[in-house]
Amino acid sequence: MTETASITTAGASSTATSGPGSGEVTDAEFPVERGCPFSTPAEYEQIREHAPLAKVRLTTGREAWWIAGHELARAVLADRRFSSDRRRDNFPFVSTDPETRKQLQDQPISMLGMDGAEHAQARRALMGEFTVRRMAGLRPRIQQIVDQHIDEMLSSEQRSADLVEALSLPVPSLVICELLGVPYADHDFFQAHTGPLVRHNTPSQVRVRIQEELNTYLGGLIDRKVADPTDDLLSRQIAKQRAAGTFDRTSMVSMAFLLLIAGHETTANMISLGVVGLLQHPDQLAKIKEDPEKTPPAVEELLRYFSITDTVTARVATEDVQLGDTTINAGDGVVISGLAADHDPTVFTDPTRIDLERGARHHVAFGFGPHQCIGQTLARLELQIVFDTLFRRIPTLRLAAPLDDIPFKSDAIIYGAEELPVAW
Ligand code: HEM
Repeated sequence: MTETASITTAGASSTATSGPGSGEVTDAEFPVERGCPFSTPAEYEQIREHAPLAKVRLTTGREAWWIAGHELARAVLADRRFSSDRRRDNFPFVSTDPETRKQLQDQPISMLGMDGAEHAQARRALMGEFTVRRMAGLRPRIQQIVDQHIDEMLSSEQRSADLVEALSLPVPSLVICELLGVPYADHDFFQAHTGPLVRHNTPSQVRVRIQEELNTYLGGLIDRKVADPTDDLLSRQIAKQRAAGTFDRTSMVSMAFLLLIAGHETTANMISLGVVGLLQHPDQLAKIKEDPEKTPPAVEELLRYFSITDTVTARVATEDVQLGDTTINAGDGVVISGLAADHDPTVFTDPTRIDLERGARHHVAFGFGPHQCIGQTLARLELQIVFDTLFRRIPTLRLAAPLDDIPFKSDAIIYGAEELPVAW
């Protein structure tokens, strides 16, 4: 089969003609849809087999470098010559709508989009809220939240539920709300608002409206906390900044917004996919049920396997950078594909197999380098508690629909399941 090339592999920088598998040719636009959570796009493999990086055409029509090798992914993520600043011209957004891209660029910058000293300062201010010790202190409350939701599931006479609605979404949502000091009574409001913001295809006018509504909501919340502080992350951050004379309402809104989205959408999707992964591997699940010590490594493997934030780690080169034989020019967009890197067979033997005992903690599902996920200890804790408790309390849990009938999020920036019918 012969196709016209839209990938330029590193070291072979001219348009080539050959068949899939060569790593040189594909019609695909990137990111390529996963379809099923148990497959990685063949195009990612093709790039890695030929070279760890390639110039690809994004779904937006723009070109960007696609990093598919694990070692190179970590090197680029740790390299300060690559900027996270979304306001840069060639930032490789994957949303196809130009209005949406403009809106993303016009947003007040959050920590995720900062570089250098500005980023280090913003991150340092927040780090104390996410220490291992502080997170461990949340364990009893998270356990209680998980138990309450499982109690509710078990009280259903039908012995069936949509796991997304019953557990995957409410648990991280409640946890992040309590941590930030956001009234959970408002969760329907921001659930309805954050969901569309992490889809590629949400129309820009909808995006603009919900962004404005969220900003108004969070602004109001911050004003209330300025006037009447409570014991929560937002109040503490406000108090610290006011004491230092650095309080800025707009930056506080964008920090709250980032934490709310990051704390919500990621862990929720990982819970659903993790359950699918575990249920599809009953022999391995049995070992975890017998020995909870096996849950933490299992969580790492599930994080690696599904790498749900595949394209979140995107950058722009701020100067010419030599990567092996390839020069990345200043201004080039670069997508560090977490999914491709975490399926690199030189690092993870037989990467397309779920091996819950493999010891996969060096995955890049939480990124790497200065922007590595600040909430990773919290996410790990929530995932461990959910998987342990769910399968201990509902040992007969099973999927209530064939895998092919489960709607997976093919157009989302954060991969996951729309719904997950389960029964017991
Ligand atoms: C399974 C769950 C999660 C996954 C897979 C995940 C993934 C990621 C990734 C890949 C990055 C790096 C982005 C980059 O390099 O550009 C990141 C950053 C971040 N994450 Fe997470 N995340 C998860 C959960 C959380 C939670 C629960 C929170 C907050 C409570 C959180 C807050 C953040 C923040 C604030 C950043 C930005 C850090 C910085 O720019 O320095 N994440 N996350």
